[in-house]
Amino acid sequence: MDDLTTRWRSEFPILDTSVYMISNSLGAMPRAVGDSLADYARTWATRGARAWEERWWEMALQVGDKVGAIIGAPPGTIAMHPNVTTAEMVVLSSVLPRGRRRKIVCPAMDFPSMIYLYRAHEAQGFDLSLVPAESDFSIRTDRFLDAIDDDTLVVALSHVLFRSSYVMDVAPIVERAHRHGAIVVLDTFQSAGIIPLDVTSLGVEFATGGCLKWLCGGPGNGFLYTRPDRLKTVRPRFSGWMARKNPFAFDIDDDTLREDAMRMMNGTPTVPTFYAALPGLDIIKEVGVDRIREKSKRMTAHLLELVDRHGYRTVTSRDPERVAGTVAIDLPHAHEVAKTLNARDFVVDFRPGVGVRVSPHFYNTFEEIDRLVAEVARIVEASGA
Ligand SMILES: Cc1ncc(COP(=O)(O)O)c(C=O)c1O
Repeated sequence: MDDLTTRWRSEFPILDTSVYMISNSLGAMPRAVGDSLADYARTWATRGARAWEERWWEMALQVGDKVGAIIGAPPGTIAMHPNVTTAEMVVLSSVLPRGRRRKIVCPAMDFPSMIYLYRAHEAQGFDLSLVPAESDFSIRTDRFLDAIDDDTLVVALSHVLFRSSYVMDVAPIVERAHRHGAIVVLDTFQSAGIIPLDVTSLGVEFATGGCLKWLCGGPGNGFLYTRPDRLKTVRPRFSGWMARKNPFAFDIDDDTLREDAMRMMNGTPTVPTFYAALPGLDIIKEVGVDRIREKSKRMTAHLLELVDRHGYRTVTSRDPERVAGTVAIDLPHAHEVAKTLNARDFVVDFRPGVGVRVSPHFYNTFEEIDRLVAEVARIVEASGA
């Protein structure tokens, strides 16, 4: 076992009973989440409504700052939302098509929930321009750049494409978007916690993501980063009392908004999920994304070696810089193979077109990877496929 595994493995109970390689979907729960949720229950039981003033009202900022420390966002710039779809809706509600400038440019390989949302906005005058994918489910940067022009209002893209784990080349895209007067919304759901990311140096106006995958923070913890200069002027229409400077004035004519990330929030937040997110965020920060990336690269390279040795197909890029945390193994009946693996406590997922997705995190071992691929081979052999 390497240093990372030795130090951290016992903090994740599910690793005792399964080969857990699905951190692209739901990261393993840190043991400390139990105590943190008990703290929530104790606070509610003993402090009741006083907890709002004592901690809960501003707790989204506290969690947001912990996310920020991992993705390069300054304190006070990240709001929390139940999920990324909601966070993207807040962003979209802050812009309006005007004149020719009405295009949303997005990779066709973005997460479908985003595309459903953008497409629904066509009824309100937006035009959705989807940049098609290559046969390996990557998106060519030059094609993406070509789609951005003076008609572009919003460039919305995933940093890492969910299906293929392909890492997009974000910097030239941001540069071109800004040159043409468009804003950028970067979905970091598949990159935060597994590859180094600095939203400040990327210069994006907005970044979304969630804690439940590589950040090991559980569901209900979507986040929204807003660039500090924008926090002074942005006015989402999907807003609410939490965004107001004086929410307890209950004045329907009060339109004075806060100038920190609370400006991007709306109604009562999902407080219990914040408690669940804290231990994972602390662990990822302590381990450090650079170290996570270094080990992750070795693990995905090892997986690709085994895939080649068995003669399986994969859409995963052979350029280590373009692969985030997941290797896809394309097999006949891949969905059935994934189900059998799960039944045998090898926890992975399946996506149409790419097959079985294997997503080791810093807490996994190389020996687990060997066992998992050996199990795949056994299942494939038994099926006669
Ligand atoms: C890149 C990306 N964006 C968004 C989502 C999900 O968004 P939401 O939090 O709205 O469910 C996923 C989920 O897998 C994802 O991989």
